[in-house]
Amino acid sequence: MLLKNDLLLKAARGEKKERTPVWLMRQAGRILPEYRKVRAIAKDFKTLVKTPELATEVTIQPVDILDVDAAIIFSDILVIPEAMGLNYEMEENKGPLFPKTITSLKDLAELHVAQAGELQYVLDAISLTKKELNGRVPLIGFAGAPWTIFSYMIEGKGSKTFSRAKKMLYTEPGLSHKLLNMITESTINYLKGQIKAGADIVQIFDSWAGILNPGQYSEFSLKYITRICDSIGEVPKIVFAKGAFFAREEMSKMKCEVLGLDWNMGVEESRKLLPGKVLQGNLDPCALYGSLSDVRKETIKMVEAFGPHNYIANLGHGLYPDIEVGNVKCFIDTVKEHSRTLH
Ligand code: CP3
Repeated sequence: MLLKNDLLLKAARGEKKERTPVWLMRQAGRILPEYRKVRAIAKDFKTLVKTPELATEVTIQPVDILDVDAAIIFSDILVIPEAMGLNYEMEENKGPLFPKTITSLKDLAELHVAQAGELQYVLDAISLTKKELNGRVPLIGFAGAPWTIFSYMIEGKGSKTFSRAKKMLYTEPGLSHKLLNMITESTINYLKGQIKAGADIVQIFDSWAGILNPGQYSEFSLKYITRICDSIGEVPKIVFAKGAFFAREEMSKMKCEVLGLDWNMGVEESRKLLPGKVLQGNLDPCALYGSLSDVRKETIKMVEAFGPHNYIANLGHGLYPDIEVGNVKCFIDTVKEHSRTLH
């Protein structure tokens, strides 16, 4: 189907366009009262994720309400461990919890490499969203990076230090690589399924990249993201590795068109370290707590720093639930207006 707004895909391919595209990580979520309403109907997070009609509805809400240039399928990165055989729960106001975690090789024997069909509910939500979007904007598919997924499978929940996951790398590198391999194969199958179902572009989230040292990051994370990128040639790929400022030079060699930056990564420095890459990011979501005129000022500063080409506007990480919708809208409108003047 022909897209009416293909700014995101044009930018990802480094093509000319009339302005900079903008979308936000966590754009579908608790900042929107309309999301909270559907979330209440679903009763719990997992039911929302597993009901294609509801997932489609909340995926399209930010396109209708915020006028972003892309939709991102409503799901979670933790559907992969579940498809491999390790169930997760989403605790109200707390976050994910795995009742059982991976502690030994014996636990690995109970897991399997997931096939795309085991995540049919996500694929159905993608097909339905594509149909309902009717070409308005592109649809972004996504998955967690193997290292981030590994961290949750070992820790069982969020952590300040991720010391259990890191301990596993130091004490059981063989087991670690075995599990990372299984996650990588599952993720490739899953992303290929998402693309077949209609995803126009995919993003890989490495949310816990920043807790590893450069050598470990290369061995236990980048190696696997590289394999995923090498396996997916069908659509453009965005890699967002939060906190991996130290790995930018190495990441410039990866076969992905777009690299997401967090707010700790300077624009000028990133352009030098990542020649030829399209950059995405990177306003600190906390900047959206300011007044409308402050939000405008910060957004213009960001748009000017990145310049008109090889750029997709976004935040440096996901929106926080208590950010005002009006301020988010101000960010989006300012990117659109100001970037037009630079093109
Ligand atoms: O709009 C979008 O970005 C699409 C949907 C999306 C969600 N999670 C929905 C969600 C995406 C892309 C994710 C990815 C995700 N999930 C990541 C990577 C991105 C990042 O933020 O670093 C991670 C680490 C997770 C795991 C996860 N899911 C956590 C730690 C939490 C709890 C924290 C929180 O924000 O509540 C979730 C829950 C979650 N995933 C919510 C949403 C909208 C909130 C749950 C709710 O509605 O009750």
